[in-house]
Amino acid sequence: MLNILYDETNVPDIDTLRADNYDKIDPSTVQDLKRIGVLTSGGDAPGMNAAIRSVVRTGINSGLEIFGVTRGFHGLWKGEMSQINTRDVSETLQRGGTFLMTARSKTFMTKEGVIKGARMMEVYGLEALIVIGGDGSYKGARALARVGVPVIGVPGTIDNDIASTEYTIGYDTAMNTAMEAIDKLRDTASSHERCSVIEVMGRHAGYIALNVGIATGAECLLIPEVPYDFDKDVIRVILDGRNKGKRHYIVIVAEGAGSATDIAARIEEVTGIEARPTILGHLQRGGSPTLRDRTMATLMSAHAIECIKEKRFNRLVVLKDGKITDVDIEEGLEMKKTINQKELDKFWLLS
Ligand code: F6P
Repeated sequence: MLNILYDETNVPDIDTLRADNYDKIDPSTVQDLKRIGVLTSGGDAPGMNAAIRSVVRTGINSGLEIFGVTRGFHGLWKGEMSQINTRDVSETLQRGGTFLMTARSKTFMTKEGVIKGARMMEVYGLEALIVIGGDGSYKGARALARVGVPVIGVPGTIDNDIASTEYTIGYDTAMNTAMEAIDKLRDTASSHERCSVIEVMGRHAGYIALNVGIATGAECLLIPEVPYDFDKDVIRVILDGRNKGKRHYIVIVAEGAGSATDIAARIEEVTGIEARPTILGHLQRGGSPTLRDRTMATLMSAHAIECIKEKRFNRLVVLKDGKITDVDIEEGLEMKKTINQKELDKFWLLS
């Protein structure tokens, strides 16, 4: 049974309340759980369906009842959930998106919203919640943990920007989608002797941009983590390239580092080289997951069920040193991720 610590009229500020409520949970005092919920939250990512499927199948085969919550935390506080059985998840492994649907819930960013969500779990008899999503979703999960709801986080975002884990579900598919699109853009840039400026996703993170930049042999790379000098890092690189005999150019910009449209216009104005912008946008979030995303989603979610069966709550499933394990949610959310400077240096050496 849940032990919700606060009611709607008496809830401390969820951002400041410390975790001393739940880290004292002694597994030997907790009865075996019977029913848990699963939701997907934030931006969707290829492999989320594989993750839900794995939660459902490994959960049921370990003796749990699984309830699927639709539209993320929004559906949680509204009580939009129903039981899922093993047959309900057949033919989902290879599908992009998330059949549970997802949302970015504004209500859930308030303490009243969090308590409403926790109360709704009580109504449906859910004793723990598996949250598949990125950092924003993990903050929602942490807020629930802080009011007494046992949670487990599974990393699902194309951005690979969660500090506690080396890998997030969806990253590989998104990078491959971007790479294929950029290869095609290179063909036409080459035919027309143009510069192709391609905006990839990543408001705060340049991991997709960096790896795709390496994989497509781009000339320039602009990412939010590293300030750039437009004349030196873009114009100079393109003009040097032209002097060496290059006749087409690929510039990759992560969305948080600038607008492809503006950058293309400036390149054309300053260099006289025709430049065309392309925004890959949400294309990168769709599509059938790659082998890596299917296997990571399946194994990470199976690990989440293991945590629940072992009564190790408020954990984030992570890939660490290439192995799937878990870390405390409070500690995980304190960690900071930095861009791999060595890889970035190598990108520029190759350009
Ligand atoms: O977090 C995933 C992500 O795709 C980011 O790369 C991007 O900045 C953001 O979501 C876009 O969000 P939305 O779907 O709300 O446009």
